[in-house]
Amino acid sequence: MVRATAFLWACCVFMVTTNVAQGIGVNWGSQSSHNLPPSIVVQLLKDNGIYKVKLFDADDWTVKAFAGTGIEVVLGIPNTELQRLSDNYNEAKRWVKENVTRHLYNGGVNIKFVAVGNEPFLKSYNGSYVKTTLPAIKNIQKALAEAGHGDNIKACTPLNADVYESNSAVPSDGNFRSDIMDIMVDLVRWLDSNNSPLLVNIYPFLSLYKDKSFPLDFAFLDGKAKPIQDKGLTYDNMFDANLDTLIWSLKKAGVPNLKIIVGETGWPTDGDTNANPKLAKRFYDGFLQKIASGKGTPLRPGSMEVYLFGLLDEDMKSIAPGFFERHWGIFRFDGHPKFAIDFTGKITDRMPVAAKGVQYLPSLYCVYNRDVKNMSLAQGNVDYACLRADCSALVDGSSCDKLDEIGKISYAFNMYYQTYDQSVEACIFNGLGTTILADPSTDTCFFPIQIQSDGTRISIVSGVSVAASVLVFLALL
Ligand SMILES: *[C@@H]1O[C@H](CO)[C@@H](O)[C@H](O)[C@H]1NC(C)=O
Ligand SMILES: *[C@@H]1O[C@H](CO)[C@@H](O)[C@H](O)[C@H]1NC(C)=O
Ligand SMILES: *[C@@H]1O[C@H](CO)[C@@H](O)[C@H](O)[C@H]1NC(C)=O
Repeated sequence: MVRATAFLWACCVFMVTTNVAQGIGVNWGSQSSHNLPPSIVVQLLKDNGIYKVKLFDADDWTVKAFAGTGIEVVLGIPNTELQRLSDNYNEAKRWVKENVTRHLYNGGVNIKFVAVGNEPFLKSYNGSYVKTTLPAIKNIQKALAEAGHGDNIKACTPLNADVYESNSAVPSDGNFRSDIMDIMVDLVRWLDSNNSPLLVNIYPFLSLYKDKSFPLDFAFLDGKAKPIQDKGLTYDNMFDANLDTLIWSLKKAGVPNLKIIVGETGWPTDGDTNANPKLAKRFYDGFLQKIASGKGTPLRPGSMEVYLFGLLDEDMKSIAPGFFERHWGIFRFDGHPKFAIDFTGKITDRMPVAAKGVQYLPSLYCVYNRDVKNMSLAQGNVDYACLRADCSALVDGSSCDKLDEIGKISYAFNMYYQTYDQSVEACIFNGLGTTILADPSTDTCFFPIQIQSDGTRISIVSGVSVAASVLVFLALL
């Protein structure tokens, strides 16, 4: 009797664990100066039991690395392509042929969804993609159907949670934003009729970041917050309240049962006072435990499909929304873990498995040369470096903000030197720079050695980083 019970228990724990591992997906973005090779990332996912990945494009070199792995892949289409794909069905057909059909041979890639656009209705886009998104989705789905993949691969679009709102802060008052009401109703009804899911991105961190009076505990899912009541339901965290606001909006649009997938959620580890590994662990512990429990939200109990954001830090992301943007990775840029996490929802002190076989540049750092006593040229050089490399760990509340003045200058110099592959010219800085072998990292501030470039480095200077780097610079000296 005792043995039978033990066996049953062991069997069911195993089954649940397997299911849970398959339920968690991650977003893998590539806005980095140096990207890990796809083969290393695929192994990193497998080693950590992650079998779903969401991409932001359909880059052939990346997508084909998933062939034969069984990993479910969501392909992405950037917003800038929406016009072309909505205007011209032949372009949609070409997209499907070139980016889907070619990967669907026996032993090929397990493509699950095509995410058409990314947060196209975001308020800050001023309606730029409102007219083209749904026609583009329909064209992609039609092309998928014509190619014979329509039943297995669904077109959808990931939306920011700003497409719905609630005037009174309770979910039941929720509805779609008034400026996009008609298009949202058309979209969700079409998704429903096509058996496509709605992907929504929900970030308790951003609520906390934007609203200084937001109650900290309500951003986490460990039951420590003061709950709010809504029509007999109890909410003790922002994630549930936010998702149920969407479900109320869907009810009002006549599609209460539309399948929802969380396209992005996560917590950054640097670039803001509330962005650190400790709070990230608190968020993920509560969130993953909730997903593993299959409890769902008060309004929609049951299991939930989610994609975490994100897998790796991306040092070339725009910092217009905030300096934390480059620190969303569960892993560092090089696939090194930042905090203990268990993707099956167990609270753990164990680090996840690190990326294997990563090739680094030599152990060399560029720092301020202390022999130079005249520092008048330091500011200009820091500005130059931070315009072209990632200095977001230097701003107030970040991991390197406690460095002294020379430490901060050295940090900026080193970031530039690593971004430019440790080239000799990248550590001159009017004679203020010098290379050293000893690691200048402190307990909290990590001076990286960059990984070897995969040869696909993106161009670096953009309008946004120019404007934002001035802020970094001001905060620095
Ligand atoms: C296929 O996807 C790639 C990468 O996202 C893109 O550059 C290319 O234009 C797409 N092909 C077509 C025919 O649109
Ligand atoms: C949206 O409008 C604002 C204010 O007019 C402007 O600053 C911003 O650049 C616009 N954004 C886009 C993507 O057009
Ligand atoms: C420091 O360097 C600047 C720029 O080279 C120069 O103009 C200035 O005279 C120097 N100051 C001293 C005290 O040497």
